[in-house]
Amino acid sequence: MSAFTSPRAGRLLARGRHADSLLRVSGLRREFTVSGAVLRVLDDCSMEVGRGEVVAIVGQSGSGKSTLLNVLGLLDTADAGEHVFDGVDVTRLREGGRARLRNEGIGFVFQQFHLLDRRTALANVGVPMVLGGVPLVRRRAVAKELLTAVGLGHRLSSYPHQLSGGEQQRVALARALSRDPSLILADEPTGALDAASSEMIMEQLLGQARSRGAAVVVVTHDPNVAAVADRTVGIVEGRTV
Ligand SMILES: Nc1ncnc2c1ncn2[C@@H]1O[C@H](COP(=O)(O)OP(=O)(O)OP(=O)(O)O)[C@@H](O)[C@H]1O
Ligand SMILES: [Mg+2]
Repeated sequence: MSAFTSPRAGRLLARGRHADSLLRVSGLRREFTVSGAVLRVLDDCSMEVGRGEVVAIVGQSGSGKSTLLNVLGLLDTADAGEHVFDGVDVTRLREGGRARLRNEGIGFVFQQFHLLDRRTALANVGVPMVLGGVPLVRRRAVAKELLTAVGLGHRLSSYPHQLSGGEQQRVALARALSRDPSLILADEPTGALDAASSEMIMEQLLGQARSRGAAVVVVTHDPNVAAVADRTVGIVEGRTV
């Protein structure tokens, strides 16, 4: 059923949101070879995400959630299956094309943050904008605004090792938002946070969806996070259910 005709898409439209499809994957498979044995981590993953939609991915540890997110974020390539992002069949792209699409269209909040140790919070948030050729003055202004929005306006000059886990997580979120991506992927973005900070992160993510139609896919173990998503996709042993 197309996103335009589904009852859920109708509800989205009724709420004034963008219901057209941004991302569609079908039959994704991903295998790794470990000590000569083939490990099928993603077996059959299918999902569709519309613009302005917030989707939670839930599943046990080791079920393949981060692997799926890496494929959706064009950081990894599936071995089989269909993958269309923003009208582009990404399975046909070479690395250069994938990198461009990723940098322009996708913001990623990693489970392990992946901040640059020798850069301040402000500079870390600016990294995607450097890649996009945004001038320094503008980079600093945007980074300051985003860090302030996640409650870190007083920590602009701090280095990652001077920040708590939750603060680093919020820097990682600010970085993911710095180029107004059409797709935001977040892997356990509230994992290291207390209730108040979790709420702040989720408000940011929901705000991105509501205000400018970004699609948000968030991996979570937190029932409070899943509860505010528009829809939940389960993953069991590499299969979406
Ligand atoms: N590069 C890799 N090489 C070999 N095995 C891998 C690789 N990446 C992931 N795996 C395996 O794939 C399985 C799924 O890993 P993944 O990180 O996707 O799980 P997850 O659902 O995100 O778990 P968690 O909730 O603990 O973060 C695990 O058994 C993991 O060991
Ligand atoms: Mg994971």
